[in-house]
Amino acid sequence: MTKRIKLALQKKGRLTDACRQIFEKNGLSCKEANRQLVYSIPEAPIDLLFVRDDDIPMLVSNGVCDFGIVGLNVFQETKYEKQGDFDAEIFAPLGIAKCRLAIAVPENKKVDALSDLNNLKIATTYPASVRNFLQEKELNSQIVYLSGSVEIAPQLQLSDVIADIVSSGATLKENNLKEMTTILDSEAVLINNKNIDGDAKDIADRLMASFAN
Ligand code: PRP
Ligand code: ZN
Repeated sequence: MTKRIKLALQKKGRLTDACRQIFEKNGLSCKEANRQLVYSIPEAPIDLLFVRDDDIPMLVSNGVCDFGIVGLNVFQETKYEKQGDFDAEIFAPLGIAKCRLAIAVPENKKVDALSDLNNLKIATTYPASVRNFLQEKELNSQIVYLSGSVEIAPQLQLSDVIADIVSSGATLKENNLKEMTTILDSEAVLINNKNIDGDAKDIADRLMASFAN
């Protein structure tokens, strides 16, 4: 029996459609991820596992999956959160699903220099990435965690500013927020468990080569 790899993909969300498109463009069927959460691609030695995107870095780190496709933002967040205890690494960037993790402030609020962030509350879904950024810049802002709809936080007086994913910028605009600074430029990346063997790497190399066509 030839070797197959396990590749974790996002079950439902922005990355799901982008992934399906690149797989199908290359003649790899990518079963609709409605109910069936495991799908063996007949045309390639790849088993797809459809999971929540936040779980993908840990599933790859602990070896449950050999590979995963996830936003760099989610990968970095997990890496900062787990610190030393993390065995996933980036295999290749995919050049799709580009976005950025940025700090945004209410349009009517004067926060221009980074030092203006001192003593402010920052609402975010990415506390470990924001903490790392604050440490690097020697800032002492306070982090307020929200699992979604972060842009609402300043209106609710939960925070002064936010740090969230910006893609088109429409969500910021609709909530009267303006971008102030970028914490991370992100895109979808193929990640691998650090202990995969040469055969698994060959399969991933072939997948990447087919994506390049
Ligand atoms: C994401 C992200 C931003 C928005 C950015 O939220 O957290 O809010 O998309 O996209 P835009 O710049 O194109 O408007 P999502 O829709 O995934 O919802 P969530 O915040 O509840 O996770
Ligand atoms: Zn959002």
